[in-house]
Amino acid sequence: MSKLFSSLPLAACLVAGAAVRGTFAAPQEIDVERRIDALVARMTLEEKIGQLRQTNGGAVGEALSEDMSAAPLDPAFLADVTAGRYGSLLGRRGAVSYNILQRAAVAGRLGIPLLIGHDMIHSSRTCYPIPLALACAFDEDLWTRIGAAIAVESLTVGCNWTFTPMIDVARDARWGRIAESAGSDPLVTSRFGVALVKGLQGDDLADGRHIAACAKHYVAYGAPLGGRDYNAVELSDATLRDVYLPPFRAAVAAGVATVMPAFHSYNDVPCTMNAYLLRDILRGEMGFRGLTISDWGAVDELVAHGVATPGADAAAKALNGGIDMEMVTTHFADGLAEAVAKGTVREAAIDAAVRNVLRVKFRLGLFDHPTIDAAALEATIDFAAHRALAREAAAKSCVLLKNDGVLPLAAPRVALVGDIATNSRQMQGTWSTFDFSNTTNDTLLAGLVADGVDVAYTEAYTLTGRVDRVALARACDAADVVVACFGDYLEKTGENNASARIELPGEQLAVIDAVKATGRPLVAVVFGGRPLAIPELAEKADAIVMAWNPGGAGGWGVADVLTGAAEPYGRLTTDFPTATGECPKFYSRTLTGRHHVPGARWTTRYNDVPFASVYPFGYGRTYTTFAYAGERVSVEGAEVVFAADVTNTGSRKGRELVQVYTHDVVAQTVRPRRELKGFRRVELAPGETRRVEIRVPAATLGYTVDKVYRVEPGRFEAWIAPDSDSGKTLTFRLD
Ligand code: NOJ
Repeated sequence: MSKLFSSLPLAACLVAGAAVRGTFAAPQEIDVERRIDALVARMTLEEKIGQLRQTNGGAVGEALSEDMSAAPLDPAFLADVTAGRYGSLLGRRGAVSYNILQRAAVAGRLGIPLLIGHDMIHSSRTCYPIPLALACAFDEDLWTRIGAAIAVESLTVGCNWTFTPMIDVARDARWGRIAESAGSDPLVTSRFGVALVKGLQGDDLADGRHIAACAKHYVAYGAPLGGRDYNAVELSDATLRDVYLPPFRAAVAAGVATVMPAFHSYNDVPCTMNAYLLRDILRGEMGFRGLTISDWGAVDELVAHGVATPGADAAAKALNGGIDMEMVTTHFADGLAEAVAKGTVREAAIDAAVRNVLRVKFRLGLFDHPTIDAAALEATIDFAAHRALAREAAAKSCVLLKNDGVLPLAAPRVALVGDIATNSRQMQGTWSTFDFSNTTNDTLLAGLVADGVDVAYTEAYTLTGRVDRVALARACDAADVVVACFGDYLEKTGENNASARIELPGEQLAVIDAVKATGRPLVAVVFGGRPLAIPELAEKADAIVMAWNPGGAGGWGVADVLTGAAEPYGRLTTDFPTATGECPKFYSRTLTGRHHVPGARWTTRYNDVPFASVYPFGYGRTYTTFAYAGERVSVEGAEVVFAADVTNTGSRKGRELVQVYTHDVVAQTVRPRRELKGFRRVELAPGETRRVEIRVPAATLGYTVDKVYRVEPGRFEAWIAPDSDSGKTLTFRLD
């Protein structure tokens, strides 16, 4: 084995890295640490504990709304604030409330400003597509631009901290929070998270245009048993390290300011008090120096988990486990002093947590600039450009799943059917329409009209209700092509929205047959926050566009794809199964002793649905076609170099997303059949061929055994291909 691939315990590398960073810290960092030391030295225990609590912004907002001139002098309010689900603090008064609170806070004995956080997940004043949709764009530049736009808009409404990116690898379509994720793959999720952190935090958190990000939910929240939210997670340590931790490692390396542990238990220990996860791995191995915030009420839930009693015990277990700040509930406020008195928490541990909180406040520049001049900031924001960005993002998030030549729309008369086509709320997504949102009359109907389509709308059915067959037939008869909306309402995904059925609800299958019976081509536009089981559409529709919850300009963006004003761009970041019973279904499944062989009785399978996904990870069509030739893979020093000649074989310009996958052929442990290792988009004119090269660091081809990440010599299989199910099998060796 060459030196390059020697197996060093990852922990050792990262701890060494942290030490180096400590030794050569930048002068500003040393200055900040000195200021933190000076502050902590002056603080009473009570004041320290005050830094570790976060108050529900709803209550704070109510208090403020009584009399805006009177600051809420109740010291309980002078803790950090989360705006809560619907942002009542931010919404009513925005930056005015923010400034009142900050002035009150810095007028205190220690002059410590507040963190005011909110869930600006894919929406602040402008609403973008849900993360699962955005991820399909495979576009780091787009993700960063959206992060930056969210950050500056959030500041104008009085929010300096957001609980995003959510970087939970999500492989189970039943789990409602898959909508908030980037899908099933660690590489895509890592790049998505890093790009958002860069956009939200910028190069300088204190520049007055950026806010603190929060990587969540640490960790493996996307793998609850049965796909049911909050449920326990059972995973091997190796899978934890190779699949679920990498996005967090990447976010920490990118400088994410804060991390939120998840609600669930891992290894029978709630993440909220899991010192192995929070102390050994996050701080020890990854070198994280920011702030950890419990999820909403999660310290309290240690009691419900049956592992703590309320007050001092719950507080001690959470703090000792690695939580710096408690969100909303008050076990820290009520019990930490008692825990110190009893000796179950050392004051030094409280000091360390306080330091983590203060460090974020210093990084944000809040000590020097505690208030916001919202009017001046707003004057610098081009909201029309943000809306254009939302439209661009909606179009780029769409995945063209099928097209028998009916798209882009060319037929003179279009019938648009289904209730969701005229419902702007349903375009938006799980974390949207706060009371500070810029609302728009955004619908698919409006988007098609804006694009100049001769479209007649008839509701004919709701997604979950009955079909008016007469109205539907009449609408179809009067048109040359039918654009029909399918899927599910946005309320069916998001937090605590697990579904035991991911098939199309209501009478949507009857809609397919009724439209087909008229002989008109059927274009299916599918909305929703999860992969759905749509084998019937795959079989019978003439075209399918997966539109997700496309955001506040979604109607326009989806219309742009349907009309060809925008090229289909997205590729799936999750598999689409045939039936719910296959969940979790994901392309990078580990091998079994009986690989699936079509038609072979004793190889792994279901006896009632096909083995292959209806649409696999990485899949997505365009309005042109591409061919691959000359695929090869070679090893050049520390890199594995993939190359292929990609030709645009169609008659329109188009962009192909070239993907590379590997598989370690003989390993110490059972390995996934394929893992994505890189991707690159290439734009080609009709008939144009280009040699596409993707370089992958060999150091990323390893896996973990007994907590040690190693890259081993030997033979690998490789693919350079348009999706996770296709491509010629190539081989290479690492020596
Ligand atoms: C609970 C959710 O799990 C988390 O994602 C969110 O950030 C908090 N609530 C705060 O609203």
